[in-house]
Amino acid sequence: MRNSLLVSVAAISLLSAAGPAFADGRLSVLCGAEEPHCAALEAAFEAKTGIDVSMVRKSTGEILAQVRAEKDNPKVDVWWGGTGDPQLQAAEEGLLEPYTSPALPDLLGWAQNFASVASGQATGIYAGALGIGYNSELLAQKGVPAPQCWADLIKEDYRGEIQIADPNSSGTAYTALATLVQLFDDKEAFTYLVALDKNVNSYTKSGSAPIKAAARGETMIGISFMHDMVTQKQAGFPIEIVAPCEGTGYEIGGVSIIKGARNIDNAKLFVDFALSPEGQGAGAAAGMNQVPSNVNSVVPPEAPDITTIKLIDYDFATYGTAEYRTYLLGRFAEQVRVIE
Ligand code: F6P
Repeated sequence: MRNSLLVSVAAISLLSAAGPAFADGRLSVLCGAEEPHCAALEAAFEAKTGIDVSMVRKSTGEILAQVRAEKDNPKVDVWWGGTGDPQLQAAEEGLLEPYTSPALPDLLGWAQNFASVASGQATGIYAGALGIGYNSELLAQKGVPAPQCWADLIKEDYRGEIQIADPNSSGTAYTALATLVQLFDDKEAFTYLVALDKNVNSYTKSGSAPIKAAARGETMIGISFMHDMVTQKQAGFPIEIVAPCEGTGYEIGGVSIIKGARNIDNAKLFVDFALSPEGQGAGAAAGMNQVPSNVNSVVPPEAPDITTIKLIDYDFATYGTAEYRTYLLGRFAEQVRVIE
């Protein structure tokens, strides 16, 4: 009897020792970048720490929706990647945990600035500019001129030839919406979007889908980030990349810890890794072409040089607010298209 009691006590204490050790070894991450990028980062972090990562890829607007829906019972620890505006909105809505990584001083100015706009609840991991990409073979077949400017895209030459993502699900498409409003005024931007709608054959869920479709010859033109266009070009597809003549907007991708994260210590380790040259090197190794935020990270050789592109002074503090995102997305649904 005494022996079996001793065995049970030992089993219970073993179980309780095993409990936290098991929890300590896990991490749940929502990833807003391309699947190969997510997988490479996951593998590199697991190899370094032995922590078992569960990583799911979603578009940025979908990540915000999930994090908001799970607010009272968070199942995710870290939000890595995707465009910054929805993460700024999440910070404003109290969905994120403040965390200042020791890597912060090693980051480029735009990434540090992003962290301060997010009140320390998210940090910049990469940047990339928005562009127009076209399939040069389809363009030649149709015998139309190459678009050079945003203004060109509403011409009849491109009727039914353009894809862009849905700004509700896609951070890329929201960046485009906010860019047009900052380049022109609200009225002009929405008049433009209504005209552009006539040339759009599909609003995709993910932001890189339009340029992938152009690469495969399913559409002539895709509006996406230029780094995603470079990836298609590197894969051998006939894609040409245009920086719009009026100027263009850009993204700062972010990383953040979800408020109430179950694996908070692991989440901090992941954020530190994602901001390190080693973690950021996973993107380049997976064939991705964003500009990484750490000054010591290796910039992928063919990453579009954001210092030479005519960029607008994208106002993250304004366009990342709940007020502006709700206003722009609402007006898009009212005046341009309700996307099912
Ligand atoms: O390469 C993937 C990427 O362009 C990221 O740079 C960006 O943060 C993300 O996709 C945005 O994806 P989505 O538009 O689907 O939210």
